[in-house]
Amino acid sequence: MQVKVINHPLIQHKLTLIRDKNTGPKEFRELLEEVAMLMGYELTRDLPLEEIEIETPVTKCTCKTLSGKKIGIVPILRAGLGMVSGFLRLIPAAKVGHVGVYRDPQTLKPVEYYCKLPTDVAERDFVVIDPMLATGGSSVAAISLLKQKGAKNIKLMCLVAAPEGIHLVNEQHPDVEVYTASVDERLNDHGYIVPGLGDAGDRIFGTK
Ligand code: PRP
Ligand code: URA
Repeated sequence: MQVKVINHPLIQHKLTLIRDKNTGPKEFRELLEEVAMLMGYELTRDLPLEEIEIETPVTKCTCKTLSGKKIGIVPILRAGLGMVSGFLRLIPAAKVGHVGVYRDPQTLKPVEYYCKLPTDVAERDFVVIDPMLATGGSSVAAISLLKQKGAKNIKLMCLVAAPEGIHLVNEQHPDVEVYTASVDERLNDHGYIVPGLGDAGDRIFGTK
């Protein structure tokens, strides 16, 4: 099972608050945004740097700057939207694509209903974002769609992952690194992650 678990204490603390059923939508959204930013920090560790000449108030110097690699982030609708603003605070120049996939409640199979990506897909590195990786069907479908459109370099960022979902992504897309804050125990009979955090979309948007 190939997965990078981000164990940072701040992320783990915030994840516990997110999981708590007494955390309401306002706090849930704020925490998710904060965690997305902290996870994004880890995900972007390998961004290339280059050197430029600048002048500080004291002297000229050679300093490091991002080398301008083009980044795209792709939230899976709906719940992925809750992690977009946190990531964009780190990389404001990232372009945002959207993939709409929902899980059929009976079959648990993904149903695609929307796709809008930046025009220069082949030139960008992508991060697919969804708080929940359960069966893995939705993420695998979104990644497949991105690849069909020409994306070559893709990472998956999910807050909570079930072992089943990680296995499916590893199997179908072995080139995609999975980043998560927690590998939970299992899925229940309804395909919910245990212990999980419930329905992420409903908790973000206050629906049910
Ligand atoms: C949730 C979640 C993931 C998906 C995970 O979305 O946000 O996209 O389920 O499950 P999977 O790994 O088994 O595919 P949902 O289908 O509830 O749609 P929503 O975000 O619109 O609520
Ligand atoms: N989608 C969710 O929102 N939560 C789960 O536990 C599984 C799928």
